[in-house]
Amino acid sequence: MKATVHRKAHFNAAHRLFRKEWTDAYNAEVFGKCSNPNYHGHNYELIVSVSGEINQQTGFVMDLKILKDIIYEEIEIPFDHKNLNLEVEEFKTLNPTAENISHVIWKKIKKRLDNNLKLEITLYETPRNFVTYTED
Ligand code: NI
Repeated sequence: MKATVHRKAHFNAAHRLFRKEWTDAYNAEVFGKCSNPNYHGHNYELIVSVSGEINQQTGFVMDLKILKDIIYEEIEIPFDHKNLNLEVEEFKTLNPTAENISHVIWKKIKKRLDNNLKLEITLYETPRNFVTYTED
């Protein structure tokens, strides 16, 4: 018997989308407001979804208290109130789009979970723009 548990979290962070080999004008054309050279912030809303068998003894897919702590350590501490481009190692060479942030979050949380659990990340960059990321 399988189920999916979800934990919501939140972080505020600044970013800039750009490729350094492109001019500011071309970056602005491709990335719009998100390419402002002086950075800007988003209120990111995160949903971490973990699917797996319901443990017959605990009745849990996983203990949500443990998931809460993993999200806090792996995501909230390193990302919250940070400039992603300048202060987070993964984005020094990777454009911090919602897609790429979701992939980085997936990798950081996946390595902390039991191997038999499936992980999906949902990341809202704005209330209307969001991305999901998972791997089989
Ligand atoms: Ni942006």
